[in-house]
Amino acid sequence: TPRVFSGIQPSGGLTLGNYLGALKRFAQAQDAGVETIYCMVDLHAITVWQDPEKLRHATRELCAGFIASGVDPEKSILFNQSQVAEHAQLAWIFNCVARMGWMKRMTQFKDKAGKNAENASLGLFGYPALMAADILIYHATHVPVGEDQKQHLELTRDIATKFNHDYGVDFFPITEPVIEGAATRVMSLRDGSKKMSKSDPSDMSRINLTDNADTIAKKIRKAKTDPEPLPSEVVGLAERPEARNLINIYAALSDQSVEQVMRDVGGKAFSEFKPMLADLAVAQMSPISTEMSRLMQDQAEIDRVLAEGAGRARAIAAPILRKTYEIVGMVGA
Ligand code: TYM
Repeated sequence: TPRVFSGIQPSGGLTLGNYLGALKRFAQAQDAGVETIYCMVDLHAITVWQDPEKLRHATRELCAGFIASGVDPEKSILFNQSQVAEHAQLAWIFNCVARMGWMKRMTQFKDKAGKNAENASLGLFGYPALMAADILIYHATHVPVGEDQKQHLELTRDIATKFNHDYGVDFFPITEPVIEGAATRVMSLRDGSKKMSKSDPSDMSRINLTDNADTIAKKIRKAKTDPEPLPSEVVGLAERPEARNLINIYAALSDQSVEQVMRDVGGKAFSEFKPMLADLAVAQMSPISTEMSRLMQDQAEIDRVLAEGAGRARAIAAPILRKTYEIVGMVGA
């Protein structure tokens, strides 16, 4: 039976990219009736420095972001990673399965470590093994993510395959990445060749989940475009990254395909299309920011939701860890 797992780092600030590439699709998977497990990966966040108070705040705010985006803690299991020790325990086993050479090829490590990789944390290097553990500790079969996580999910499959092969078992499933829809890579509003990211120095480059209606509308009005009107057909978007990005965002927000959207707006000037996009984005995004601030009023309730989710997660994870230990040859498992 299918089981969906995905995670988001509480490293401060959620963007429209996180919403369209992840959160909105998490809620859709949940509403389709599949078993869904969603995690705030605080152990991943500390692979780069996090101020403790800010981390605590970001974890709670992320939880509010999940709920405001339609993830229902009654229907989905919603929790923070560090409350379920099995993630870190399985990650250790996977540290002993994954090869140095595999990790060295991870483009996200190279990007994040930058020029001075000697000074990166060991945790940042091992990050994808912990991510594989997040997924496989639940025997999850499907992992909805944005495009940027593709290589990590391939590594997860490699780890599962090598574990099964080395121990001669058919224990860990070979997980399917689910990278679908028009917005698996939302780009910066200032530069169509860069991913929309919370770490971009320009706040105008992104829409934050906490932005109010006026800010959202302003950012779309000011989004970079080229001087031509929109092309009349999808193919015309190929060499026009900014136009394509805005069309992709429109399609994902309105649950349409890019083809459908182009049938309606193809040929329009940006002066006509941008207000349409702004209205749509405000209608969909501003209730989320309102709901997030409402939920943040009651932090005890958020902590209760996370603790309860962790209990349910542990009930699935503990027997899988025990069985893994037994396979590996640990006495007492
Ligand atoms: P993170 O926290 O960077 O991002 C969370 C999710 O948002 C997606 N995303 C985007 N999608 C489209 N366009 C964008 N501009 C954009 N920016 C971010 C990401 O692809 C991701 O799906 N390593 C993961 C967290 C993680 C995880 C896991 C994910 C840890 N363990 C297990 C899945 C399964 C990360 O850093 O995501």
